[in-house]
Amino acid sequence: MSVLLDVSGLERRFAGARGMGDMIARRPRPVVHALSGVSLQVQDGETLGIVGESGCGKSTLARCMVRLIEPDAGRIVFDGQDVLALDGPARRGFNRAVQMVFQDPYASLNPRKTVHATLAEALRVHRIVPEAGIAARVLELLDLVQLPASAAGRHPHEFSGGQRQRIGIARALSVQPRLIIADEPVSALDVSVQAQIVNLFMDLQRRLGLTLVFITHDLRLVRHMAHRVAVMYLGRVVETGPVAEIFAAPRHPYTQALLRAVPQMTPRELRGEPAVSGELPSPLAPPPGCAFHPRCPVAEARCARELPALERRGGGWPVACLRAGG
Ligand SMILES: Nc1ncnc2c1ncn2[C@@H]1O[C@H](COP(=O)(O)OP(=O)(O)OP(=O)(O)O)[C@@H](O)[C@H]1O
Ligand SMILES: [Mg+2]
Repeated sequence: MSVLLDVSGLERRFAGARGMGDMIARRPRPVVHALSGVSLQVQDGETLGIVGESGCGKSTLARCMVRLIEPDAGRIVFDGQDVLALDGPARRGFNRAVQMVFQDPYASLNPRKTVHATLAEALRVHRIVPEAGIAARVLELLDLVQLPASAAGRHPHEFSGGQRQRIGIARALSVQPRLIIADEPVSALDVSVQAQIVNLFMDLQRRLGLTLVFITHDLRLVRHMAHRVAVMYLGRVVETGPVAEIFAAPRHPYTQALLRAVPQMTPRELRGEPAVSGELPSPLAPPPGCAFHPRCPVAEARCARELPALERRGGGWPVACLRAGG
């Protein structure tokens, strides 16, 4: 398999909100370290799951990868091209090849436009089919996401959440992308509907040969549908590799803690150990060394000083823990 998207050393900071205390003391705006050197690879044709607690930088990473926002540092290579240097027609080509699906399709669909108008617009902007072929292509897209042809004449508010997500997916598919980045695409949906949308993603991927990045809080979804997984903690990837192997024998203490929080997925050797407690530290002041060390059950003194690189440490896949494979 070849690498389709290669992200390395991605950094992104935001200006944080200033509290009253900051203003009185005339402190400068705090800085949120949303991404602190993220590296990951997406293989052509695979589903990569990205997991991690709220605020660890998953959406910021997704937005950087589709260039909705620019990173402060790092490199993104898509299909051999340096994405951050693209402009003109090459940038438009990239904008077409990489599509994003959002958690709330309602917010990203124009409420005044019919489904036909929304899909037709995407087809026209990128000149996917000649004008005479647009109506037929819209019907094909609806069929692809298992919506009836009658959906074309209706507006977003006439659909359920699951149906709206199908429209969001149809719009992403309309421009024939190679990569879809889906940011929590089912977390706003009822559990029964979640399964249908997840199965739709899996079906589309197989039929169209799509590559998929699937961001979720739900480790069960990752196990169900992803080939590989990247586990994020406070703006970094701490472990990445094949889903089956990592779920059977997680190597980073944070991955172990995440799995322990989902009892039916806990490997036998981890059961009975205390779960990791404590709050996610603030990205305003990430801990020095390994950012997980204040919550880590096996941290040593050096973990508070040394930043562990994400590398193969005697095991089969990269892990950012000084104690792994040691
Ligand atoms: N535009 C912004 N301005 C200021 N801070 C931001 C902005 N976007 C994100 N952040 C901050 O960056 C950090 C990472 O946010 P991000 O939305 O990427 O996390 P996430 O992993 O997607 O979380 P969730 O699981 O809740 O969606 C958070 O502390 C967030 O408050
Ligand atoms: Mg998010």
